[in-house]
Amino acid sequence: MTVATTPAASPTFESVDALVAALQGVGYFADRRLATAVFLALKLQRPLLLEGEPGVGKTELAKALSQVLGRALLRLQCFDGLEQREALYEWNYAAQLLHLRAAEGRAPTAELEQEVYQPHYLVRRPLLQALEAPSPGALLLIDEVDRADEPFEAFLLEYLGEYQVSIPELGTVRAAVAPVTILTSNRTRELNDAVKRRCLYHWLDYPERERELAIVRALVPEAPRRLADQVAAFVQQLRSAPFGGQFQRSPGIAETVEWARALVALDTLALDPEVVVETSGILFKQRDDIAALNQALASDVLDAATRIEAAG
Ligand SMILES: Nc1ncnc2c1ncn2[C@@H]1O[C@H](COP(=O)(O)OP(=O)(O)OP(=O)(O)O)[C@@H](O)[C@H]1O
Ligand SMILES: [Mg+2]
Repeated sequence: MTVATTPAASPTFESVDALVAALQGVGYFADRRLATAVFLALKLQRPLLLEGEPGVGKTELAKALSQVLGRALLRLQCFDGLEQREALYEWNYAAQLLHLRAAEGRAPTAELEQEVYQPHYLVRRPLLQALEAPSPGALLLIDEVDRADEPFEAFLLEYLGEYQVSIPELGTVRAAVAPVTILTSNRTRELNDAVKRRCLYHWLDYPERERELAIVRALVPEAPRRLADQVAAFVQQLRSAPFGGQFQRSPGIAETVEWARALVALDTLALDPEVVVETSGILFKQRDDIAALNQALASDVLDAATRIEAAG
């Protein structure tokens, strides 16, 4: 079952700028550094490992990229205890048994065994589906790989290095079209060096203010302009010194967007310390962080945000 590797047939991008524009066309705002990493991963046909805090747009990038490339998105959500058979394939035992029963006595056991270990009886999971996807190929998202255990990472090496896997009963399955492969990690633990070596790497940071504002404007168009400006500036301040250090976790882009939606739902036209405190459960998910954002602090952050806004 070995298929010759041919070059990927997805649309190619002439430049990093063209890729930035294409992503923006499907609602994803990437900065140049991220777009360069993606551009290179596509050009060099290498997997891309994205690490970053929660809610900075790692999973969303894979979704947006599958859209612009016209490739089917195959998603492997990792968790502790994830096994090969959930990632790659398993045999359809029930169908194999039925086959054996029906064929009983018809042929020698060895021959029957051969019959049931055929591709027809394989249940294909995302990795195998990605390798077998016809042109233009698939985009495989191996999401939150840090949640899987180390043996699973070791199992990924063959796929990541050569876009192939070995199935004992069938042989080597090699990709017809190299799947575009994105791995994400929240860095709950350090990944194996061998995995990292096979991937291009990008640390996805919180966005700068202009980009976050563009995201809020695009995703919450109903937000008054002034409110959107304030939200972006406020969240920026919350994440940076001297305020950032007072919280255990910074809000991600997802929280910013959700907050803007909530403020619109409350008919808020402009931020004030009261409304910030009342809605702080959207920005923060930790009890201590919610308690820390009291009226006095909200007022200080708001002042700082207003100064930044006025300056920029
Ligand atoms: N660059 C971006 N452009 C547009 N929207 C974005 C961008 N980044 C994040 N978002 C928005 O933020 C939400 C959260 O992003 P996403 O789920 O991709 O985060 P994540 O980094 O995968 O987080 P986690 O580590 O918690 O899985 C997305 O659903 C999307 O609405
Ligand atoms: Mg994610």
